[in-house]
Amino acid sequence: MDPHNNATLIKSLADTGITTCAMELVPRITRAQSMDVLSSQSNLAGYKAVLDATAHYGRAFPMMMTAAGTISPAKVFVMGAGVAGLQAIATARRLGAVVTATDVRPAAKEQVESLGAKFIAVEDDEFKQAETSGGYAKEMSDSYKKKQAELVEKHIAGQDIVITTALIPGRPAPKLVSESMVKSMKPGSVIVDLAVEAGGNVAGSTPGKAVDKNDVTILGYHNVPGRLATDASALYSRNLLNLVTLITDKDKKAVVLDMEDDILKGIVLTNGGKIVHPQFSGSKASADTKAKVPVKKTGR
Ligand code: NAI
Repeated sequence: MDPHNNATLIKSLADTGITTCAMELVPRITRAQSMDVLSSQSNLAGYKAVLDATAHYGRAFPMMMTAAGTISPAKVFVMGAGVAGLQAIATARRLGAVVTATDVRPAAKEQVESLGAKFIAVEDDEFKQAETSGGYAKEMSDSYKKKQAELVEKHIAGQDIVITTALIPGRPAPKLVSESMVKSMKPGSVIVDLAVEAGGNVAGSTPGKAVDKNDVTILGYHNVPGRLATDASALYSRNLLNLVTLITDKDKKAVVLDMEDDILKGIVLTNGGKIVHPQFSGSKASADTKAKVPVKKTGR
């Protein structure tokens, strides 16, 4: 369940008295990594996004020097260098592409460069403070978005493949690729919008569809981890098993919720007939219902 978009459901679950939790809210702390469903699924999505792009791109990815001539390497631009973006960079590099990437979080720069890609971003004062204490991106100001769009506009025209993964928890996905940017790309180019279910990063991306805009293919597939169903289910079930193990008291052979545990504090929505999660109790929850903001789904 997507908790950011389901305040009414959370309220009715609380009224039934049952205990519920949201796997999307597993905190990004080292101890919780084995239960982190966003990471396990995003990693697969980043990999599959590159393979989907190769399937629609009518040319090769690596540079090939043959007797019949040289094929230039594909130029791949990854927008959003979180879990999915970093896997997309690594996959595209393994296939021999020349990769550039952007993000608004300064921490992403080193991670991008460590994978052999070039980092491109507006590195101003706002960029230096763009990461929340939870490690997520903040929504950027209009003036930052303008500077970012100018930079991207120049860069994107020379790219063959663009993979967008940018998300802001609880908010619509930032619009990063405009119609004119799509138009500026060469015929045969491919864009994969992994944020399509959260409103999309790309103008013209359509949930569940591959669309053609001026000979540029825009892929907006639903539930991309589900396109690698066996691996997605195996990792997701392992995440759940690790959570069940955490909350099971082996001696008592019963589920015991330690509500002082940071992981449970992060994920438990309702308990004992109340909404216990601070993010969803009180006015915040009703504000979220009104906003009807689409956010990232894990496909489960
Ligand atoms: P996400 O799925 O929420 O967003 C994807 C990426 O889009 C992020 O890197 C974000 O900074 C970027 N983004 C947002 N707005 C943007 C914009 N306007 N322009 C360009 N990029 C934009 O992020 P994800 O993959 O869930 O990772 C979030 C954080 O959690 C990262 O810092 C990651 O390193 C961290 N993390 C920590 C773990 C841990 O156990 N310590 C495990 C997994 C992730």
